[in-house]
Amino acid sequence: MEYKYPVSKPSLKGKELEYVTKAINDGWISSQGPYVQEFEKAFAEFNGVKHGVACSSGTAALTIALRALNIGPGDEVIVPEFTMIASAWAVTYTGAKPVFVDCKDDLTIDADLIEEKITSRTRAIMPVHIYGRQCDMEKIMDIAYNYNLKVIEDSAEAHGVKPTGDMACFSLFANKIISAGEGGVCVTNDDHLAKQMVHLRAMAFTPEHNFIHKKIAYNFRMTNLQAGVALAQLERIEEMLAKRKKIEDIYDEKLKNIKQIKVMPKRNVLWMYDLLAENKHALQKHLEGCGIETRQFFKPMSQQPMYYDPNWKTLNAAKFGHSGIYLPTYADLTEEDQEYIVSKIKEFYDKI
Ligand SMILES: Cc1ncc(COP(=O)(O)O)c(C=O)c1O
Repeated sequence: MEYKYPVSKPSLKGKELEYVTKAINDGWISSQGPYVQEFEKAFAEFNGVKHGVACSSGTAALTIALRALNIGPGDEVIVPEFTMIASAWAVTYTGAKPVFVDCKDDLTIDADLIEEKITSRTRAIMPVHIYGRQCDMEKIMDIAYNYNLKVIEDSAEAHGVKPTGDMACFSLFANKIISAGEGGVCVTNDDHLAKQMVHLRAMAFTPEHNFIHKKIAYNFRMTNLQAGVALAQLERIEEMLAKRKKIEDIYDEKLKNIKQIKVMPKRNVLWMYDLLAENKHALQKHLEGCGIETRQFFKPMSQQPMYYDPNWKTLNAAKFGHSGIYLPTYADLTEEDQEYIVSKIKEFYDKI
């Protein structure tokens, strides 16, 4: 169904077309073209780190980050219960086991519950800055230091949150703060890890290119076409973040007096505007009828068939199932659009 107000929509008003056209005119359509490295360099600079490694998706970025750390069978990685499933899958793809930790009321991982899940097999912690809300990195970095663990931030939803861990992985899917259509990028200050990721994303070719591959690797390359789009988006990231901040403030202000809505704590950067709503399903249906798309929150990992734990209902992450939704959130959403969306929410609660 086509919504007048989808939950997300890319803002392609910069040099995207110019760069893609140039890539085509120059014949650089594969991963070998110049935009890939240009984007990597610019994205690393934006994040204040040395290296950026672009790849085909956020999931791919997480996977090569874990593999670069030699994480695999027999290892465990701490992952939040409340996340998009790709965080956990990246761990599973390596052969390691994701060990789940519940979330706080702001949906980020509860750092106070991490230590009890650490075993002799734990190698890394993967905090996820959910919906743009930064995890308690100070506490997480302390725990990682004390137990000699690596920290891979899943920053898929948090462009603009500056990395503090060993590596941070971003998604560039079309609904993200900046996008390449599909794509991902991992940033790190570590020369060795960056080199490993470059090796792993492109089939582990040896420098001699002799077709002896010493590791099982991937084709997770980003094309020059995608990188052209990503670069054009990155040129506008401050503008996008500012627009999103304004959207957050406007929603907060307009929604705060609706008693059936619980406004969530502020985000560090706004990816999706999340809230808790009474009568969630009926509200979603009403909004759908008005051309407004909404989405439910992620489900806890322990509720997923491949990670099923019958105790999932006792998790804090499970309690949002009844009421958690997010509203249309994209840079080009206007104040009038938000006015309309909120008026339809009010209309729903006035009727019942
Ligand atoms: C928290 C989180 N991690 C990982 C991913 C995976 O990113 P991608 O879809 O680019 O593979 C996503 C988004 O889809 C996400 O929201």
